[in-house]
Amino acid sequence: MPTPQENQVASPIGRDTVRVDGPQKVSGRAQYTADFHFPGMLYAVPVEAKIANGKIVKLDTAAAEKMPGVRAILHQGNIGKMYRSIPGPGFAGICEERRPPFEDDVVRYYGQYIALAVADTFETAKAAADAVRATYTKEKPNVETHLIADDEPDVVATTFGERKRLDSQRGNPDAAFASAAVKLDQTYVTPTETHNPLELHSTTAVWDGGDLTLYESSQGVVNLRSVLAQMFGLPKENVRVITKFAGSGFGSKLWPWTQCPLAAAAARQVGKPVKLVVSRRMMFQSVGHRPRTQQRVRIGATPEGKLVSLEHDYIYERSMLEAHHEDCGEATPLQYSVPNLRVSFGRAKRNIGAGADMRGPGRVPGLYATESAMNELAHQLKIDPVKLRIMNEPKIDEGSKLPFSSRHLVECFERGSERFGWSKRTQAVGSMKRDGLTLGWGMASCSWIAARFEAAASLQLRDDGTARVASATQDIGTGTYTNLAQIASYRTGVPIEKVEVALGDTTLPEGPLSGGSMATPSIVPAVLAAADSAIGSLMMVAVSTPGSPLLGHKPEELGFENGRVFLKSDGAAKGVPFSDVLRRANLRQVSGEGKSASTFGDPSAKYSTHSFGAHFAEVTWQPEIARLRVSRVVTVIDAGKILNPLAGRNQIQGAVVMGIGMALLEHTTYDPQNGAPINSNLADYIVPVNADAPPIEVHFLDYPDKVINELGARGIGEIGLAGIAAAITDAVHHATGVRVRELPVKIENLLA
Ligand code: MOS
Repeated sequence: MPTPQENQVASPIGRDTVRVDGPQKVSGRAQYTADFHFPGMLYAVPVEAKIANGKIVKLDTAAAEKMPGVRAILHQGNIGKMYRSIPGPGFAGICEERRPPFEDDVVRYYGQYIALAVADTFETAKAAADAVRATYTKEKPNVETHLIADDEPDVVATTFGERKRLDSQRGNPDAAFASAAVKLDQTYVTPTETHNPLELHSTTAVWDGGDLTLYESSQGVVNLRSVLAQMFGLPKENVRVITKFAGSGFGSKLWPWTQCPLAAAAARQVGKPVKLVVSRRMMFQSVGHRPRTQQRVRIGATPEGKLVSLEHDYIYERSMLEAHHEDCGEATPLQYSVPNLRVSFGRAKRNIGAGADMRGPGRVPGLYATESAMNELAHQLKIDPVKLRIMNEPKIDEGSKLPFSSRHLVECFERGSERFGWSKRTQAVGSMKRDGLTLGWGMASCSWIAARFEAAASLQLRDDGTARVASATQDIGTGTYTNLAQIASYRTGVPIEKVEVALGDTTLPEGPLSGGSMATPSIVPAVLAAADSAIGSLMMVAVSTPGSPLLGHKPEELGFENGRVFLKSDGAAKGVPFSDVLRRANLRQVSGEGKSASTFGDPSAKYSTHSFGAHFAEVTWQPEIARLRVSRVVTVIDAGKILNPLAGRNQIQGAVVMGIGMALLEHTTYDPQNGAPINSNLADYIVPVNADAPPIEVHFLDYPDKVINELGARGIGEIGLAGIAAAITDAVHHATGVRVRELPVKIENLLA
């Protein structure tokens, strides 16, 4: 457990801080998207295609239209104009399903929206949607789970721009592998996984003349505005997006989905606010998923365990239209030192909805494969898996040839080993017992990108000693409200409880996505710059206000600390509280704006910036009743300065629990007959619950990374899910002797 000194520091940065929005949430005052109501508001329910491949021949809406309380049945013939959107510079205009709903009569996946019922009540809208009859010409859908790469050019278009399919290469990997003394060649499979945030996706659209307001559960209000403005042909100033609270998203809410333009088009048509809440079943069809992957990993090594070659060639499934890129090889070039390396990918089209980012996109499935291969190599060589990794620790990022800004992975291994008791591990399968149970111990490393998006924020200092900080970013349950209050408090000296935080509204200065674990690192410099700008204005007031004790001095002679302005020559002890300065000048507030630039994908970067970590997992196995449990996890994370260790540990614990789901439970299965996700509900799509969550010990190394920002804070939203499945499956092997290479591990895999 963390030492008390770590968490009771005087600074608001690095101190365990309870959520500032906690009281609103536990008292039910926090308004989530579907909680907003408007006079005359109508409800919309989409009609879902019941085929996955074919064409709509006829839509019979007559019965639905006659139902009392039904206001409209919208379809291709009457929905009104919707345009396509294109990406803009930076991270603007991103979306995973570009096709506006109802654009053509082709059905490409099961559950594609083909019509929309709008009615006075939700129940009526649902009954009307169910009463719409569709006739199709249909063909057999392709939902084949075995993936063979489609024939595609060397450079392909993806959601995030063009990508070379030969992602990374150095040395001569094929020749080095062929002549290696020790070889490993295995293929690892991760299934389609569906995001299941507690809060369903929902949109409430309100038009006021030519102005559109969207209440949306979004991880990126600014991007959503840019997409929707394009789809309705509006200047972005005429579109406002509001996400005050989100019941998480795990990436499914990063980019807009088609229910959003549908609600807006319906509201335009009927002249009333329209609410559309996606059902749990629809969540499995039309709002993204982590694509299935099939990854071949080949490693060549010396008998001592030094890597000589690493090849990571992977294929992932994609939808018929879209090209979400599942970047499984993102960490491969930098995780270990190896002179000969290749990372390449292929894609396989399927009749399924668009893939999307899901917590730790790319690296989570990717590190499952490469870390599993490292564990298998350790087993093959009879070398301790921790030692094997330390032996292959790189001095620089050998992919980009840049030095790491801050990498303490070896210390993660050492600290984790010590806390877990790793030295007591005996190597033979099934050799460790406790209380009549067979124990399995496994470990793996992890990493995650550290970077910033462009961000802006504003900050006000007010005459009652309070402050307000604002940015159009979101809090998806991760603690962003609290982080903003902490950063503002750190710079202004205003206690956290006196900092008002405004976010989740595009009328505020443009803030970052809540994605890529980048919201926190991105917002730090913007808030600090906004605070400095407000403090600068305050100093101008202090030197120019009649009666001010600082009247007549030059602003550059002044300092500001702990909420007080002072003459540097007098020292901070003689300072004047900023509230006094403002009151004397009869000012309610001084304001500042701050901006910071993106570092994401910066071609001129001087450092390779990533977070690192190590997981140690224990499983218990009872062969008599085929009972497998994850019984203990120790995770050590090197993610720079941790702003709020209380929320930070919570974030990593949540990710580890999700990793138990990835390793042992989660998979979305498509029906080969009609292409429908079969287990599209929370009874059949199994996610870990409290009873599945073991004691999870989380440690942060807490080395500030000043390359990222002044506070040295990187992000921690995703890294905890990377690598954990490989640690658990290796523990399963250690306990049972069964090496499962297709997730999730099923009980039937373990039955002898
Ligand atoms: Mo995360 S998958 O970038 O929301």
